[in-house]
Amino acid sequence: MRRIIITGAQGQLGKRLVEQLGQRNGLEAIALDRNALDITNDHAVLEAFERWSPDGVINAAAYTAVDQAEDEPELAHAVNAKGPENLAKACAKRGVDFIHVSTDYVFNGLSSLPYQSTDTPHPIGVYGTSKLAGETAVQKAFSEVGSNPKHWIFRVAWLYDCVGKNFLTTMLDLTGKTSPLRVVSDQWGAPTAVGPFASMLIDCIEAPKRLPEGVWHYGTEGPTNWHGFANAIFELSDVEQVVLPCSSSEYPTKARRPSYSYLDPLPLMTALDRQASSWKDELQQCLAELNRMKR
Ligand SMILES: NC(=O)c1ccc[n+]([C@@H]2O[C@H](COP(=O)([O-])OP(=O)(O)OC[C@H]3O[C@@H](n4cnc5c(N)ncnc54)[C@H](OP(=O)(O)O)[C@@H]3O)[C@@H](O)[C@H]2O)c1
Repeated sequence: MRRIIITGAQGQLGKRLVEQLGQRNGLEAIALDRNALDITNDHAVLEAFERWSPDGVINAAAYTAVDQAEDEPELAHAVNAKGPENLAKACAKRGVDFIHVSTDYVFNGLSSLPYQSTDTPHPIGVYGTSKLAGETAVQKAFSEVGSNPKHWIFRVAWLYDCVGKNFLTTMLDLTGKTSPLRVVSDQWGAPTAVGPFASMLIDCIEAPKRLPEGVWHYGTEGPTNWHGFANAIFELSDVEQVVLPCSSSEYPTKARRPSYSYLDPLPLMTALDRQASSWKDELQQCLAELNRMKR
């Protein structure tokens, strides 16, 4: 039985990881939410390792409030950089495999080609800067111990699920309340359902030989923009809702967002001998799950 610690277990990704790990033979999930383990506290991290003796750790804990991060840079760095550093050091020292999750926001969005994991990151906000610092800290911790244990950093973008607070549930909540709805059409990326992403992460921690360690880009076939995503949500839900495109300048936010942050999923899919899903297929499956939950 491989024992896997999930940090941030009450978050969007953390919940799915815990649910899916519980359904896999040979894996035991140790679900630690922020109350059970504050990853910024290095003593607490070591205590958790003492107590649970994990074989693997998946870090789903993060500070994800992109706009608020501009006002709370210390907190964002503590959670997104110091936290993964604490976990990576503990894993590296004890021979524990480690998965860390990062973001498309490590890029500035000036490219018009799918981002590769070898492209140089240039974050344009506090959130992206803190996440990049986390990646660097994880790599440094493992560089000191060689390739055993393994570590992987998966960058992902535009995560959503059929529950919780995310773009999909926000759009569905707005149905019929505001017409027309204006959604930005000048930010490009790939909507990515949490369920299939969690499943892929578990495949890796379950059989570490399946994928070489390093930085990987995960995502769906795309890209689209937020307006395209919103339209698809209403179309596939059979809901009549007028959605008009608008520009980012008409919808100002505290933090700047990359205007193009499509992460190329093909190298990862090739390495895993899989096909990238289409983002619309994933959306359809997520909406079907939502309908089943309502019954
Ligand atoms: N959501 C997206 O669109 C998106 C896009 C790209 C990448 N990502 C990355 O994907 C990963 C998962 O994101 P998500 O959507 O699941 O985020 P989420 O729903 O915000 O979950 C993050 C979890 O981390 C917890 N947390 C915060 N500070 C902590 C600490 N000091 N110690 C332990 N736990 C702490 C949060 O607890 P509280 O709720 O109590 O604060 C929350 O439960 C993150 O690495 C994120 O950067 C997300």
